[in-house]
Amino acid sequence: MTAASTRMPSRPQAVWSAGRADLDGLPDAWGVNIAYEAVDRHVKHGHGDRVALRCLRADDLVRDVTYADLSRASNRFANALRRLGVGPGDRVFLLLGRVPELYVAVLGSLKAKAVVAPLFSAFGPGPVTQRLRLGDGRVLVTSADLYRRKVATSRGDLPALRHVLLVDGPAGDSAGRGDSGDLADAGVAALPAVLAAERDEFEIPPTDPEDMALLHFTSGTTGTPKGAVHVHEAVVAHQATARAVLDLRPGDIYWCTADPGWVTGTSYGIVAPLCVGATVIVDEREFDVGRWYATLAAHRVNVWYTAPTAIRMLMRAGAARAREHDLSALRLVASVGEPLHPEGVTWGEEAFGHRIHDTWWQTETGAIMIANVPGMDIRPGSMGKPVPGIEVAILALGEGGRAAVRHGAVTEIVEPDAVGELALRPGWPSMFRGYLHAEERYEACFAGGWYLTGDLARRDADGYLWFSGRADDVIKSAGHLIGPFEVEAALLEHPAVAEAGVFGVPDPIAGELVSARVSLRPGYEPTAALRRELIGFARKRLGAAVAPKFLDFDQQLPKTRSGKIMRRVLRARALGLPEGDVSTLDQPGGAS
Ligand code: PRX
Repeated sequence: MTAASTRMPSRPQAVWSAGRADLDGLPDAWGVNIAYEAVDRHVKHGHGDRVALRCLRADDLVRDVTYADLSRASNRFANALRRLGVGPGDRVFLLLGRVPELYVAVLGSLKAKAVVAPLFSAFGPGPVTQRLRLGDGRVLVTSADLYRRKVATSRGDLPALRHVLLVDGPAGDSAGRGDSGDLADAGVAALPAVLAAERDEFEIPPTDPEDMALLHFTSGTTGTPKGAVHVHEAVVAHQATARAVLDLRPGDIYWCTADPGWVTGTSYGIVAPLCVGATVIVDEREFDVGRWYATLAAHRVNVWYTAPTAIRMLMRAGAARAREHDLSALRLVASVGEPLHPEGVTWGEEAFGHRIHDTWWQTETGAIMIANVPGMDIRPGSMGKPVPGIEVAILALGEGGRAAVRHGAVTEIVEPDAVGELALRPGWPSMFRGYLHAEERYEACFAGGWYLTGDLARRDADGYLWFSGRADDVIKSAGHLIGPFEVEAALLEHPAVAEAGVFGVPDPIAGELVSARVSLRPGYEPTAALRRELIGFARKRLGAAVAPKFLDFDQQLPKTRSGKIMRRVLRARALGLPEGDVSTLDQPGGAS
């Protein structure tokens, strides 16, 4: 091992300078705005007729939205925000499924220099209102049903929330004011009526590349969710990685299956593909093996960005199902979000004639950092190598299982194949600029000149990186990052629960499933009925994607001397593993 180097290579910066030069920039040198790069410049260059969004609706209809349509619609949205008094830096939250209005709202907000904060529409009312509160949400764009089920009852706790725009109603008057029943709260309006009243033209104001553009909530081991702040400059990395990693070209048909409520669905479901002038498939419906293959074939998808959970579900159905379809248009299949096991990589070859390219990144990194880029020799199970412009280190671990920091310094492991904490040299354009209202948590992510990812990995002698697990207790279930603290807090709201510990257990399809152990207050019996009640209670608050799938009772939850519940010991107990050796528990489906 050697001491951490302090060298600041010039090559990475040169890569990003070239990436910056590849953007148009706002007219009259007014800066850089993501929405301009993603939409308006294509119209300016004469490509307004190209299809930007191919929307596959739940009713089976297909609706195409051209770049010119999207430019006009987002202009109307930006004008509407201005009319509502929503300005630069104000937060616009989105709680929507995969519908075209979502894209219009994202791009229109960015044009108006408001900050876009996506929410996962499968979250229950608890996570939704908590994030709205933490992010000072001023506008919420959603549907009448989602608003009724997830926000309406907490409206009184959200004083900053001034405007709710419903994509499907209520029926409003020409000024867009809603007037029906329980939706008549102040500020609830019908988005179609609001947009109809606006002009098609909007001049994007000067935008500093460092202006805040996106706010993505993510979870840590403890405390409330963290709002990772991203700026307009991030578009440099989105465009560069779209080309270098996803091999996206103008006019390509591209499908990113990630939900737009998470960072992948925004960075690579909206910004990156539109920047390169691709046509984005927007599929309103949920996963279905037959329909997914039919979609790839019917729309002649060229580049497909998906996730290991989906790949495992497709694998279960058998490669023959894929071969029933003409997938000859597919040029590249890539994966992200959780470990892609080696069998998944090679199965791609059997099913589509292409090995699947694994990529690695995080909410905080904003864009792909490590990848199996096109043309590279893929080693099944490896995340690949750092993309151009990114410098990576493996740092020696300390007692807590994270990188050891002594007097502000860390130790870089240079010999191959030793597991340590994966770290990145700060300075890439899409790096988060902070956690909203949480400066200390942000500072804690850096040591010795590195950004510490919280992931454990090793690098082989040829520079390939291999994921070996998380250094903390966060759970990855079906690609969704779940903070155990948030689940524990919801369980503790139930009068029967004295203490709760939440952890992930391996699952062959979802990677991990959320599991809980609780101790009960006096007077409560650990019955099957109470177990069902507690799971139902958590589901109602958190939503099915986040709530525990399993729950057990334990009056002696294992704790550290300071009284912290030891989630890793709980996990070991649940799996029947020796409790003393919890550090070696690998992620399920782990690539190493
Ligand atoms: O643990 C890593 C895992 O997902 C985490 C980031 O999750 P999130 O912030 O929700 O970002 C989603 C956008 C990618 C990482 O810290 N992860 C991501 N990609 C991979 C992965 N684990 C293994 N292999 C990957 N390719």
